Amino acid sequence: MTALAPRTTVAVIGAGTMGAGIAQVAALAGHPVFLYDTRPEAAAQAITGIQQGLHALVSKGRLDASLAETALDGLRAADALADLSGCGLIIEAIVERLDAKAALFDALEAIVAPDCLLATNTSSIPVTAIGAGLRHPGRLGGLHFFNPAPRMPLVEIVSGLDTTPTTATTLADTATAWGKTAVHARSTPGFIVNRVARPFYAEGLRLLQEQVLDPATLDHVMRICGGFRMGPCELTDLIGQDINAAVSRSVWTAFHHAPRFEPSLLQQELVDGGRLGRKSGRGFHDYREGAPAPTPHLAAPQTCPTSITIHGDSPLALALRARLQTRGIAFHTTSAAQDQRIAEAGEAVLYLTDGRSATRRAHDLDRPATLLLDLVLDPMLATCLPLAAARQCPDTARQDAIGLLQAAGFGVAPTQDAPGMVVMRTVAMLINEAADTVHQGVCSAADLNLAMRLGVNYPLGPLDWCDRIGAGMIGTVLTHLRSSDGERYRPCGALQSAIHSGKSLHDA
Ligand code: NAI
Repeated sequence: MTALAPRTTVAVIGAGTMGAGIAQVAALAGHPVFLYDTRPEAAAQAITGIQQGLHALVSKGRLDASLAETALDGLRAADALADLSGCGLIIEAIVERLDAKAALFDALEAIVAPDCLLATNTSSIPVTAIGAGLRHPGRLGGLHFFNPAPRMPLVEIVSGLDTTPTTATTLADTATAWGKTAVHARSTPGFIVNRVARPFYAEGLRLLQEQVLDPATLDHVMRICGGFRMGPCELTDLIGQDINAAVSRSVWTAFHHAPRFEPSLLQQELVDGGRLGRKSGRGFHDYREGAPAPTPHLAAPQTCPTSITIHGDSPLALALRARLQTRGIAFHTTSAAQDQRIAEAGEAVLYLTDGRSATRRAHDLDRPATLLLDLVLDPMLATCLPLAAARQCPDTARQDAIGLLQAAGFGVAPTQDAPGMVVMRTVAMLINEAADTVHQGVCSAADLNLAMRLGVNYPLGPLDWCDRIGAGMIGTVLTHLRSSDGERYRPCGALQSAIHSGKSLHDA
């Protein structure tokens, strides 16, 4: 363990949202902390804010009073950069501009000791570029906290080309000593989380643009079926549509306009219209006083058909069997069907989406009454299932399918017929991006899963999700999506290698 000793003085430069949070974390870990900002009074105001926050935690019994007082005693506003000469670590959290950050570190190098560690909280500027003008670039690394820094457990330790392993290790060990979970990343666009999470937003926005479902239903489906903490519309409304769009655009630009990162026209329209989300009162949803809460669109009740057969023992089939049984509904079972159907109910034949639209699958099978179900994280517990019917599917078969699912206790979210549906399409793209990120040596497989669970609260790391669904299935979904929607959905080399070798993406 090479964490900086708590007696080491830490400075945080930039007393905005992130700087104030990081200063609080370092002070609570026992370090003397300087906070500096070029804006007059900004550092003093941030310290007052930290003071109020810590006192509130103490009065709620969530923080020890003596710990809070020690932290606050050690927290001071610096009047000038020269005050920081005795620091052992300086963390920069100023405006997101390369010229400003490079100029700051240039000025700091003239002030601090040669062994003072330098860190940047940048979320998008290459650490290599920030350190390029330094005399000792080896001591600069990224220390990427998430917002709000005191509450979010993850810190990405970002190494540029010149960052020494000792710098990265000391930053990681220090973050760990501060109660955070550190993951290591190479300085590539978006680092880990801001890159791998892009499909979560991009696929949701695309589904909305294709009119597959509405924002309230999309959020509901991603929460209930995908197990995500929030859906893409409510989450981007919280982040701010402008901020989310800017990150997406910066990753797309950095990846030389790769189609999978293409910014959304729909999101740009929201930004242009000032519908930035919660902060402006309206985004995808309406947050103004008296506005109705978003309501998902679920199918009206239908009668459950009398003839039901459940095929095979896939997770969805097993859940259907158990849920029907609990509700006293009679059904037949058979072993897995050759065409991988999950259930028959009256006229309807139900399958799990494999990346083809229901319409194409109905055509390929020569079976008009074809309906598709989406991927569900936990089909035993889920209270909702998206259902897509082929265009040639008779209404009576559609009603039979809805009746079956409702009888099994699912609310049914009828979606327009889109290749890969909602959860499957998004999760397949998250897995593909995760596989590519590890393959390119940005981070280890273990750190990737950890980063996505802690940085954006995913219910499973994408590589673990792939182990659960099977690389072959993800490859099939993406290959079908690619055939209908183009290069955006190309399975990456690492995923193809997992499919052909039978090895887990963890072993890549
Ligand atoms: P902010 O706008 O809230 O605060 C920036 C502060 O830096 C302001 O108080 C400003 O007066 C000060 N400042 C600007 N130039 C300065 C300079 N040359 N010297 C000293 N102070 C200076 O910004 P925020 O959101 O705290 O972001 C700061 C950094 O953290 C950025 O690099 C951003 O990309 C990164 N970041 C932001 C996250 C977020 O959710 N807001 C999450 C993770 C990283």
